[in-house]
Amino acid sequence: KAEKRAALLEINKKAAQYFYYQLRREGGKNAHDYLTGRGLSEETIRKFGLGYSDKYSDDLYKYLKSQNYSDDLLRESGLFNVDERQGMYDKFWNRVIFPIMDVNNRVIGFGGRVMGDGKPKYLNSPETRIFDKSRNLYGLNIARTTRKNYLILCEGYMDVISMHQAGFTNAVASLGTALTSGHASLVKRYTQEVLLLYDSDEAGVKAALRAIPILREAGVNSRVVNLRPHKDPDEFIKAEGAEAFEKRLEEATDSFMFRVSIASGDFPMDEPQGQNRFFERCAQYLLELSDELERNLYIEAIVKEYRRYGISVEDLRKRVNTLALKGTPAEK
Ligand code: CTP
Ligand code: MN
Ligand code: MN
Ligand code: MN
Ligand code: MN
Repeated sequence: KAEKRAALLEINKKAAQYFYYQLRREGGKNAHDYLTGRGLSEETIRKFGLGYSDKYSDDLYKYLKSQNYSDDLLRESGLFNVDERQGMYDKFWNRVIFPIMDVNNRVIGFGGRVMGDGKPKYLNSPETRIFDKSRNLYGLNIARTTRKNYLILCEGYMDVISMHQAGFTNAVASLGTALTSGHASLVKRYTQEVLLLYDSDEAGVKAALRAIPILREAGVNSRVVNLRPHKDPDEFIKAEGAEAFEKRLEEATDSFMFRVSIASGDFPMDEPQGQNRFFERCAQYLLELSDELERNLYIEAIVKEYRRYGISVEDLRKRVNTLALKGTPAEK
């Protein structure tokens, strides 16, 4: 078992070196141009070990076979597709390659992006003996060595890389997979504070709403950063620069108030009925808080934020108490 893991790590390391080398050859020029075209410096490309899988779909296979690895082991690496007619061939071809490292800087998998608009946009290694997607975060190998007392959690490869290049070296990504309790306890080993920088589309907002309680259960406090009108951290930094980005980080919204503000968008707030349902929803959220002081602080915060609807601290507290008596389980 341990031997197999070691062999798979070795295969990944060789593959990463192979991709890295291909990016620097004549045939890798397009890929290299793609990366610099997205604003990445040579130093950044090197730091993240970015690479390129060329147009031939058998050369990585041939290379690793020449190193005497068995088909069984190569199949387990997840680097190849197995086809009844064609046998085994490279999974990644004509893609920019992002090696995925664990916290000990070992290559455990890969992501590959098409250069342009092809589909799928990204291909990723499957889970293997050495790659557990729900227990690894992209960029954590670097982020863990920074001195900041919080981590930035985002969606994608390019988000992490752009943030690191702009000096925010505490950024990590769950790579499109929803945040799991495995991720959360990994985070908890390094920090108790996370800034959520998911994409500002509907999927990103949903992902943030789901991540908040998962982090909280692991004992990690979170705040949410608004990137609008830009779509993700990479695009924000490209459009507005590092200083404006830093400012957004400072303005991060407390995760409880983020939930409240998203809820306010779920109801027709220009009608009394909508306002009523919204405050009922707030009462449900407040009821989830077991700490009396915390609950009171949030009652005040909500009243302050939504004063224009004529709500008072007494009104809201009464609602929470009524709801508590009803014993209604809080709606998620
Ligand atoms: N993702 C994936 N497969 C896809 C699309 C997305 O694995 N077909 C993962 C990737 O890890 C990606 C992340 O989800 O980085 C976020 O997806 P998305 O926001 O769509 O892509 P970006 O990271 O913004 O990609 P880019 O900036 O390169 O267009
Ligand atoms: Mn190839
Ligand atoms: Mn997205
Ligand atoms: Mn992007
Ligand atoms: Mn994105």
